[in-house]
Amino acid sequence: MPLVLIGADQSLKLLNAPATEMFGSGMEGRHYFSVLRQPAILDAISRVYSSKERQEARYSAKDHAQETLYRVICAPVQNGSGLGVLVSLEDVTSFETAGQMRRDFVANVSHELRTPLTAILGFIETLRGPARNDVEARDRFLETMEREAERMNRLVDDLLSLSRVETEERVRPTQLQDLQDLVQAVCHSLRPLAESAGVEVVINAPLPEAQKRVQGDADQLMQVFTNLIENAIKYGSSGGRIEIDIVLVPRDPIMRAPGLQVDVRDFGAGIDSIHLHRLTERFYRADNHRSRDLGGTGLGLAIVKHIANRHRGRLKIASDLGKGSCFSIVLPISGP
Ligand SMILES: Nc1ncnc2c1ncn2[C@@H]1O[C@H](COP(=O)(O)OP(=O)(O)OP(=O)(O)O)[C@@H](O)[C@H]1O
Ligand SMILES: [Mg+2]
Repeated sequence: MPLVLIGADQSLKLLNAPATEMFGSGMEGRHYFSVLRQPAILDAISRVYSSKERQEARYSAKDHAQETLYRVICAPVQNGSGLGVLVSLEDVTSFETAGQMRRDFVANVSHELRTPLTAILGFIETLRGPARNDVEARDRFLETMEREAERMNRLVDDLLSLSRVETEERVRPTQLQDLQDLVQAVCHSLRPLAESAGVEVVINAPLPEAQKRVQGDADQLMQVFTNLIENAIKYGSSGGRIEIDIVLVPRDPIMRAPGLQVDVRDFGAGIDSIHLHRLTERFYRADNHRSRDLGGTGLGLAIVKHIANRHRGRLKIASDLGKGSCFSIVLPISGP
């Protein structure tokens, strides 16, 4: 932590190594005004001289595109020649960004919950008042209320599974899984959804040598495939077909290891490239209205990414507007 000692004559007496790195060398003897510069710090220091009490300030240092935030503590120190000031600068950047992320997250969750709640409350009011004796309207309203309540339920489920995955992220699963079995099971349970969307799902995975080689958590991997395939059905149904390939990758350039790659490819509308790098952010939806109408919470891909991380794998997204999208998950395999 950078430390600067200022003497009774207001000149710099001592800078430790981090402070020298921050403010430059050869600063001893200069007036603190000419070195520390930012008004907030200067102000705090002069207040220490006048009040003889400890003061706090914030200091931000920009280099390149990065901004570092410091909490600055200016403490009075009494020495032989009078009152000096010890200035310490604590880097609080990560703390501040974590705080900001937490605030954003709470704001997002509240907003996501408020929307269905407002709708439900509105319908309750209508059912009590104007629609009291209208049987047909009542059924319609109840149906909508049910849909909104289900949406809230899904949101809470997703939040819980996100937090579970995050807590376990550092613990690598140890059991060996057969990806082909898992993908098949997921496709089986999504068949009704695919049929009602008019989508045919094809799995290409004749890879006997690649079976049971991924160290993984079966439930979580199923969750990954469920989200990717469900997305392909929901957002790519206009293509009428989804292809799932399981392929052996001799060496993944980023994992620097051999892996198994599962591609979930649809031939639907695709995603504009401006959205691609943000899709794994919590609550991010490329097509807000459409996704909301389809009951999406925007948490699915965030969960997928965390699960991939936990498995030391990664998610790749490629999409061509008008042609379709391909979401791939690559997982490292053990053994030769
Ligand atoms: N195959 C796809 N084709 C087109 N857009 C897609 C596809 N997959 C995802 N998207 C876009 O990415 C967004 C984020 O997907 P994600 O799975 O994270 O959330 P969601 O599907 O909206 O909600 P949830 O999965 O939690 O129900 C979607 O809202 C959609 O706009
Ligand atoms: Mg989804």
